[in-house]
Amino acid sequence: MTAEIIVKKPAGKIAPNLADYGVVQAEFSWDAARRSLDGLPHGGGLNIAHEAVDRHAQGSRADHLALRWLGKSGAVRDFTYRDLALETSRFANVLAGLGVQAGECVFVLAGRIPELYITVLGALKQRCVVSPLFSAFGPEPIHTRLALGSGSVLVTTASLYQKKVAGLRERLPQLKHVLLVSDDGGRTAEPGTLDLATLMREAGPRFTIGPTDPEDRALLHFTSGTTGKPKGAIHVHQAVVAHHATGALALDFHSTDVFWCTADPGWITGTSYGIVSPFTHGITSIVDEGDFDAERWYRILSEQQVSVWYTAPTAVRMMMRGGAELARGHDFPHLRFIASVGEPLNPQAVLWGRDAFGLPIHDNWWQTETGGIMIANYAAMDIKPGSMGKPLPGVDAAIVKRAADGAAEVITAPDVQGELALKRGWPSMFRGYLNDDERYRKCFSGEWYLTGDLAKRDADGYFWFVGRADDVIKSSGHLIGPFEVESALMEHPAVAEAGVIGKPDPMQLETVKAFVALKPGFEAGEALRRDLLGFARKRLGAAVAPKEIDFIASLPKTRSGKIMRRLLKARELGLPEGDTSTLESGT
Ligand code: WT7
Repeated sequence: MTAEIIVKKPAGKIAPNLADYGVVQAEFSWDAARRSLDGLPHGGGLNIAHEAVDRHAQGSRADHLALRWLGKSGAVRDFTYRDLALETSRFANVLAGLGVQAGECVFVLAGRIPELYITVLGALKQRCVVSPLFSAFGPEPIHTRLALGSGSVLVTTASLYQKKVAGLRERLPQLKHVLLVSDDGGRTAEPGTLDLATLMREAGPRFTIGPTDPEDRALLHFTSGTTGKPKGAIHVHQAVVAHHATGALALDFHSTDVFWCTADPGWITGTSYGIVSPFTHGITSIVDEGDFDAERWYRILSEQQVSVWYTAPTAVRMMMRGGAELARGHDFPHLRFIASVGEPLNPQAVLWGRDAFGLPIHDNWWQTETGGIMIANYAAMDIKPGSMGKPLPGVDAAIVKRAADGAAEVITAPDVQGELALKRGWPSMFRGYLNDDERYRKCFSGEWYLTGDLAKRDADGYFWFVGRADDVIKSSGHLIGPFEVESALMEHPAVAEAGVIGKPDPMQLETVKAFVALKPGFEAGEALRRDLLGFARKRLGAAVAPKEIDFIASLPKTRSGKIMRRLLKARELGLPEGDTSTLESGT
């Protein structure tokens, strides 16, 4: 734990929403947070898209800039809240016109293009369950998720469709409608698909959102575990209460803000904070289609007058590599709050923010399952660099240990390592893993949701991340399930078995490394290694595929036949092997 504490005084003209942590924590209630939203007219319930779009379009912020889209090659498209309301209504009408009903699952597979934002919000208006997929996924992860979610509609681009989806259609019998966005502005004409632009032109711009129960399913985000298939975490419309509250408390949104969340909506940060939260506040959101590029990012922060910036440790580390001098070539007079999420934020990175921008970086913590920020460093609270901060008002967090019978026992003494747990009841808590009640139940012990993260709490109430309790890999902020990678490798005719680990990496936190045992008759060597790397990349996509493959005679396994990834990792890093009492002999 770092000794330096950054003591912050409320600075500038804008007073932080959360000025005194203790006071807000004592006064906060989720009921009051719910009342700061509108709800659907005539007691129609609570719908994310109404809170994010329609209520602003019907009010004084109709002409306020909602979304500024920066294209990869310099194009700019602006949408006011009125524009967003009309476009999202058109898409809701497109779905209704196709006969797509409330509750059906709509997948969106696209880069960060305006259509992604419009179709996600439009589908929420039609009360469909929406699942945005990362566009760098390969065909296998796409197939797995569409099949698990029984997607009946897919919105994607013509090029992504040709490359990744067309070949899967036979294996996706539930997929009724594929709507394509053209890559060049022309009309798309793939067999078995519809042209989205044509449908949008033909659809009406008015749509009345039907009654939405706050507990109706709204968003589906897949996340990975150590074993088995990806888990579809289900979120309900009521989650918007947490999206809104955390925007105010943890990201300190004010009505004049220009906000930039650098995450892709294929991961939950890019949906909760790249779509929902800023729009519920009626503020301006920047969306950059381009990939990370330090110089481009400094330019965006400066030219777009970004005031609140939410990014990830990997990006911060990559910017640090370029040196703070790069930042000094730009002015950031509007920037007043920087936050980061996804992996541990090194203390040096917190401090680097001060060198580069004159502002520390505020780490915060949450998960796909929590739906929104749960632990944070707030604008007016002193920072202990390296700490995730304190629980959100309204959230009860504790360090627990699991007793032999599975019960969670709260550890009250400070600085003791245990599992991070959250008391159930916050609005954006996931309501289930799709078709997997058993796995969902296992995440809870009585009132506590067990996060699977190891952490400590210090005497001042700050939480410190220690590590994960499982073998899941974190690379560039993205969670990768080793099992999904192993399964893809196993499909190669030469592979007898595969074990996959996260190998520590100074930039990406971890990179995916695979150990492969070959079937008899196949010879380990450079040619096969390259073939396997290419094979995995083609199936899994660049974001998930292993970067390194080592051949190994056989994988270390427990006597019950489970691959001991921890041992593979310890051996890779030259670390002590730990408890190997369950190791099958000879491995
Ligand atoms: C896991 C959740 C947060 C939404 C995006 C990722 C790790 C997250 C931090 C942090 C250390 C962090 C945890 C967590 N993580 N934030 N500030 N410090 N670790 O959501 O893909 O579901 O990943 O990311 O291990 O459990 P996710």
